[in-house]
Amino acid sequence: MEEQTIKLLQDSFVQVMAIRSEAAALFYERLFVLDPTLKPLFSDSDMRAQEMKLMAALALVVGKLRQLDEVIPVLETLAVKHVGYGVRESHYDTVGQALIQTLSLAFGERFTPELRTAWLAAYGAISGVMIAAARRGGMVIAAE
Ligand code: HEM
Repeated sequence: MEEQTIKLLQDSFVQVMAIRSEAAALFYERLFVLDPTLKPLFSDSDMRAQEMKLMAALALVVGKLRQLDEVIPVLETLAVKHVGYGVRESHYDTVGQALIQTLSLAFGERFTPELRTAWLAAYGAISGVMIAAARRGGMVIAAE
């Protein structure tokens, strides 16, 4: 990922973190509008705690964009846990859309096409690692 893109993402994430509870609440609102069938997956969750976990995970990855290799094992473990939560591959696309909608609402006019492209690339990289790990995890389970 280019240095300019990394800077763009990290600067924008600082602004998201300043309003993290609102951003996280907005994210789940958008997610459940996009796909209400996802609600039961979170039925046992404390949504406030869940919102903070999501923002902390994003903060970790965004902070490590220059050393993405270091967070790959974390994402892989997270992905396998997600299989256990009932998360399917197609859900990653929905979550990506909810994330982009949230950022667009939070930033308004400041959500430039350049910033949108940068976030799409970052989410694509994160979800790509998670989906690949979930597939491998699934194969191990199937082989048992
Ligand atoms: C970039 C992608 C994602 C990141 C960084 C992420 C992050 C997280 C984190 C940090 C947790 C808490 C993990 C734990 O304590 O075990 C979690 C739990 C969860 N995530 Fe995700 N997630 C992602 C994608 C998704 C997707 C695509 C879905 C599908 C709707 C999803 C649904 C869930 C559910 C259902 C839980 C469990 C909630 C509970 O504790 O009951 N996540 N996620």
